[in-house]
Amino acid sequence: MSFSMIVLPGDGIGPEVTREAVRVLDWFGTHQGLDVTVRHELYGATAYHAHSVAIKEDVFADLTEVDAVLFGATGGPEYDEIPKEAKRNGNLLRIRQHMEVFANLRPVIGYDELADTISMKPEAIHGVDMMIVRELNGGIYFGKPRGIDTSPNGFERGTNTLVYETPEIERITRFAFELAKQRGGHLHSIDKSNVLETHQLWRKVVTRIGAEEYRDIPLEHMIVDNCAMQIIRDPKQFDVMLADNMFGDILSDLAGGISGSLGMLPSASLSAPNDAGDRGRRRALYEPVHGSAPDIAGQGVANPLGAILSLALALELSFDAPDAAKMLRRAVRGALAKGVRTPDIVPNGHDAASTTEMTDAVLSELQHLHNA
Ligand code: IPM
Ligand code: MG
Repeated sequence: MSFSMIVLPGDGIGPEVTREAVRVLDWFGTHQGLDVTVRHELYGATAYHAHSVAIKEDVFADLTEVDAVLFGATGGPEYDEIPKEAKRNGNLLRIRQHMEVFANLRPVIGYDELADTISMKPEAIHGVDMMIVRELNGGIYFGKPRGIDTSPNGFERGTNTLVYETPEIERITRFAFELAKQRGGHLHSIDKSNVLETHQLWRKVVTRIGAEEYRDIPLEHMIVDNCAMQIIRDPKQFDVMLADNMFGDILSDLAGGISGSLGMLPSASLSAPNDAGDRGRRRALYEPVHGSAPDIAGQGVANPLGAILSLALALELSFDAPDAAKMLRRAVRGALAKGVRTPDIVPNGHDAASTTEMTDAVLSELQHLHNA
């Protein structure tokens, strides 16, 4: 079977880290016959300088046609200078909405290999294996009315709207329950239902779907502020965590502390299965969770593992290669265990690896596993 992928390196460290993920993909092409056609396209400031838009229209349209999109990063000083009109059609939120990737998966792993650099106790992170399921197409990120205007009493006024309709909650809830079922696990649903009506509806819908369709999957509701504390206190209690768009954004960065660095976190965003009969394929957008990190861009020191582990998710979810995904995750752990670390995860007083050296170490582990 052959697959297709569009790479949008984007801004800041995006090009540096996606380049490394593509090197890893090439390794699977050469050594395991994985057939993925990769097409690189400009996004963000580079696209604006070349074409006066943040993303070309034909590229934007094709994002829904390929098996996977690998996105680097967006934002930073150069991106900020792009005029609003040029950005409007191409920003990341529109891409997510256009691709209808409503289910954002953010796995969080506790790496024993990094125990020497993590601020949490080794026994607290040991064995952590949780999956944050973040609703990605709705909520306060997209709700209307929104904007800055002038209130009746003459003050500048900013407005955003936290709104969800039942079907939006139902589809992400089913997605999270299905995942908990596959993992043989349980589900925590996060809300702020003690204050917000939107989250009262959220809790009601999640409870109903659980009772009607997933009686055998344990479900617990947790208020978001308590959840933030529980992630630090005892992250092992979580398996699948369901959250809305904004809470999922915040909690996934928080949980990044468990994996040692934001640079370690991958993500996958999936649509419903395509009804075009196309092998039930889901549209899929893969992004490292970290942003463009303009302060270190171009220095060759960015951690490529968020992008490489995003590729692992693509192997599993879009390229029918779950064994390759497992092998790649093992190789990443192997490289970390050997002490090869970019500056964000290196213990004090040790030499840091460059972006490329970090990837070299992963490739060499892959080669070992392959030869074994
Ligand atoms: C993320 C990022 C984005 C978000 C930004 C860059 C729009 O923080 O993917 O977590 O808020 O969704
Ligand atoms: Mg974020």
